[in-house]
Amino acid sequence: MNEILTQSTRSQRLKAATHEAHDRLDKRIMAAQPFASRENYARFLQVQYLFHVDMEAHYRNPVLAGVVPGLAARRRLAQIETDLADLGKPLPAAVAPALPDAHGDTLASGLGWLYVAEGSNLGAAILFKLAAKLGLDENFGARHLAGHPDGRARHWREFTAALDRTSLDPAHEQALVEAARQAFDRVRGHVETCMPPAAA
Ligand code: HEM
Repeated sequence: MNEILTQSTRSQRLKAATHEAHDRLDKRIMAAQPFASRENYARFLQVQYLFHVDMEAHYRNPVLAGVVPGLAARRRLAQIETDLADLGKPLPAAVAPALPDAHGDTLASGLGWLYVAEGSNLGAAILFKLAAKLGLDENFGARHLAGHPDGRARHWREFTAALDRTSLDPAHEQALVEAARQAFDRVRGHVETCMPPAAA
């Protein structure tokens, strides 16, 4: 808790506030051995597909585009669709939409969801390397895990700079954290739907 309160930037506070959720998700995904075979990896792709379908409304939100430069170009849904096609897999059936934000606030809650989707691309560096062992790369099957041409870290810092400079009052600050946790929960739900834990 102290760690959360003393972090200096909003993105650092968000990282601390969602650390546990990330850790649980990361462990749950890896327990399903997504890089043990292309079959398993395709299930992870289904999770990513469903999450990025959820994200579409945020990436296309003009209010968010006003604070995050180049927002629409950050979308990865098309790459995920192509990754699934590379592996000869159909798009998963649609699931019920994510619950609308309880605060009715698209700026704070949208930034919370974006934090989770954009952050996942930073962590994807490690997944990209693991995917290479399955013969997958930026041109086949692992397009959506590839780093941005400007550099993965730089692309992330451009997002966190936008996140950190947006002014929010304390209520919206809280809504932002709740939205990020909600996004992690949503991904977790997709994992439960698409990725059974490994039989071992
Ligand atoms: C779709 C599932 C995932 C989501 C939504 C997600 C989300 C995130 C977020 C938001 C961050 C940014 C944290 C920050 O610096 O503020 C991050 C970083 C990271 N994630 Fe994940 N993650 C996912 C899956 C995984 C998995 C399976 C691994 C496993 C090995 C992983 C490993 C990492 C690592 C190592 C970082 C830190 C990268 C760095 O600081 O350079 N993530 N992830």
